[in-house]
Amino acid sequence: MDRKEYEKRVDFKKLPEHIAIIMDGNGRWANRKFMPRTMGHKAGMEALHRTVETCAEIKIPVLSVYAFSTENWKRPAEEVNYLMQLLVEYIDKEIAELHRNNIKIMITGDYASLPVECIKSIEKALKRTKDNTGMIFNIALNYGSRREIVKAVNSIAEKISKGEIEPGNIDEDLISSLLYTHDIPDPDLLIRTAGEMRISNFMLWQIAYTELFITPLLWPDFDRDALMQAIWSFQQRERRFGGLK
Ligand code: FPP
Repeated sequence: MDRKEYEKRVDFKKLPEHIAIIMDGNGRWANRKFMPRTMGHKAGMEALHRTVETCAEIKIPVLSVYAFSTENWKRPAEEVNYLMQLLVEYIDKEIAELHRNNIKIMITGDYASLPVECIKSIEKALKRTKDNTGMIFNIALNYGSRREIVKAVNSIAEKISKGEIEPGNIDEDLISSLLYTHDIPDPDLLIRTAGEMRISNFMLWQIAYTELFITPLLWPDFDRDALMQAIWSFQQRERRFGGLK
C-alpha cells in the first residue's frame, strides 16, 4: 500500500488511548549521512516535534517517548552531555507551543539525578502545563523499567514493615499504583523505530498486553505517514487479552 493510503484508512473514532515510542536509530541515521551522531539526535528532536504535533492534532490521549534510559549513561560523556543539552533546548523551544495546545507534560524516571539545568527546565515545564487538560505527553528520562519495579518493591516492603499492608494482600493494582505511570493507562500501542526487535527495559510491566509495531524507518525519518501506518496496523489486530474472541 502507498504510504499516503494509511491515513485515509485509519478509523479516527477508534484511536489507541496511549501510544508509546522507542525512538531508535538516530546514530545510524547520522552515520549513513557521514555526520556526527549528535546530528542524528538533533534530527531526532525534529521528528519528536512532528510526532507530538500530529498526536495532539488527532487527539491521542497519552503519548510516551523513551528519551533517555538508565543505560544510556554508558555512552561517551560527550554524547550524554549533548543529549542533556538537547533536552533543555527542546523544552525551552517547545514549551510555549505545547502549552498553547493544552498539552500536559509528565516525566517518568529519576530526573532528579540529571544536570541542574535539565531539572530546572523540566520543573518549569511541569509547573506551566500542570493544569492542561489535553494530551498527556510523557517523557521517559533516566528511565529504566527494572529500576522502577525495584523501587515499587522496596516501597511495598516498607509498607509491610510499618504494618500498613499484609504480605498476602499484594496485588497487581498495588504494584501499578507504585509505578511512575500510576495516573495513565497502559500503552495500547508500542512503536519501535530502526527495526530492532527488543524492548530495552521500557515499561515492562505496563506493556503486558500492548500491541507492538516495529518499523525499519530510523527515528529521524519517522513522519506522519509512518505514525498513521502504525495506528492502522494496530486497528487491524484483534486484542484478546489472553481470552477468546
Ligand atoms: C536512540 O538512537 C535515541 C536516543 C538514545 C535518544 C533519543 C533522543 C531524541 C529522539 C532526541 C532528543 C529529544 C529529547 C527530548 C532529548 P541511538 O543513538 O541509539 O541510535 P543508533 O541505535 O542508531 O545508534
